[in-house]
Amino acid sequence: PRIDEAWRPAYHFTPPARWMNDPNGLVYLDGRYHLFYQYHPDSTLWGPMHWGHAVSPDLVHWTDRPVALAPDALGMIFSGSAAVDRTNSAGLAGELARQGSKPPLVALFTYHNEAVKQAGGLPERQGLAYSTDSGETWLKYSGNPVLRPGAGQRDFRDPKLLWHGASKSWVVTLAAGDHVAFFGSSDLKTWHPLSRFSTQHRPSDGVWECPDLIPIRVAGTSRTKWLLLHSVNPGGPNGGSATRYIVGDFDGTRFSPDPLFARAIARDGPRWLDWGRDNYAGVTWSGLPDDQDRVVLIGWMNNWDYADKVPTVSWRGAMTLPRELTLHRDVRYGYVLRTAPVRELRALEGESLVLGPQPVSQSLAVPLPESVVNQTKVEVTFTVAPGTTEVGLAWSNTAGDRYTFGYDAARNRWISDRRQSGIVDFSPRFASLDTAPRRNRSSVVRMTLYVDRASVEAFVDGGTTALTTTVFPRSPYTRLELYTKSGPARLLALRALPMRAAFP
Ligand code: FRU
Repeated sequence: PRIDEAWRPAYHFTPPARWMNDPNGLVYLDGRYHLFYQYHPDSTLWGPMHWGHAVSPDLVHWTDRPVALAPDALGMIFSGSAAVDRTNSAGLAGELARQGSKPPLVALFTYHNEAVKQAGGLPERQGLAYSTDSGETWLKYSGNPVLRPGAGQRDFRDPKLLWHGASKSWVVTLAAGDHVAFFGSSDLKTWHPLSRFSTQHRPSDGVWECPDLIPIRVAGTSRTKWLLLHSVNPGGPNGGSATRYIVGDFDGTRFSPDPLFARAIARDGPRWLDWGRDNYAGVTWSGLPDDQDRVVLIGWMNNWDYADKVPTVSWRGAMTLPRELTLHRDVRYGYVLRTAPVRELRALEGESLVLGPQPVSQSLAVPLPESVVNQTKVEVTFTVAPGTTEVGLAWSNTAGDRYTFGYDAARNRWISDRRQSGIVDFSPRFASLDTAPRRNRSSVVRMTLYVDRASVEAFVDGGTTALTTTVFPRSPYTRLELYTKSGPARLLALRALPMRAAFP
């Protein structure tokens, strides 16, 4: 295969060809998960944005569908969301809904008009679109735009729709520069301002993008809190673009952060959905089927620092694994999120290789077949001897490329090193050593990693810390080993599960 096809993930979504960025319009209807995405069908560079489209029965296997929304006289189609209009509140289904046929799918997206921007005007307003055939084809509402920016609001985009059951109305969360703005509507066509919210600490922080407001159950209780997500570019914990979260309450008008959470982030800085360089613009699915409490997110596995330079040839940009978010009580923050890849991915797991307790000194090879080393889930538990400075997993190839993810005992942090992971010179910002603070000091160290040819997603601290990284090895990684630095460790257990391909 061509090298860029060698980097094509086997179980992560990528566009059939050309450029992709943010996930858009995540919605479930009639047995199908929809994934729309920022798409430039004519180039592997960002350009006039469309909504690309794929559907899946299980969040794992995706089928490409035709482009859903294309630019028009009002502008390009930037990011946005979709929902099922169960009551036909917008009347867009016309006779159909009255006759008891399917409720329409509705989408709210941003029109971005570059000519208006060049002329010094406000380039962004929101448009409405709908589908009465389960998302196959989309019509734009003839009265667009439905929501215009206020004076001076240059950044005004990425609307995330929410049906607020308690007030029986729609709420949309928009990114507006250094804050989010909430608007309300009963029919999706006329919107009134509700409130705004910000935690901006420093003016140097980047622009807010792709917000999401989600009710979420507190694990082990029957209480519901509200989760506010927003992406920020730049300002990520390891540089470039990344996504933050805030836990609080929403009364239909106003979002108020939980007091303990607010104090903790004012003191320690923001909480990150992911500490890695490659998880941006993530948002959650609307209208999930089986259980109302489920919150599932997917992110764009890339970073605006170098997204337009990554060395793939026929396509650019992949999604993260779909991840389930759960909310847990926490002494320090009041509440913290845990993230884990969705259980549906287990369908791809092959026969496991298990290593039992044994000492590790410098290096211990994990005897996997070479062909599956770069397409595997690995769960590993160590204990670290006093004096040992680092333990972890290393993927390498015969070209001399090496990626490591480990625990830096000296500084009690997680450490991801892609400085020698393969082709790194396409951007001066790519070859990074990224870190995340560890949340306890136990000598027992546990990590779960998913590698898929050109990416590594690490879940540690029971899922309260995630770190996602892309890599471009010159040839596939064929060797996996456990490593230690300046002293030994004891392996307690390792399980490696080859992941079958989800795409032909
Ligand atoms: C985030 C973003 C959004 C915008 C889209 C444009 O990555 O900048 O704010 O809607 O990408 O493609």
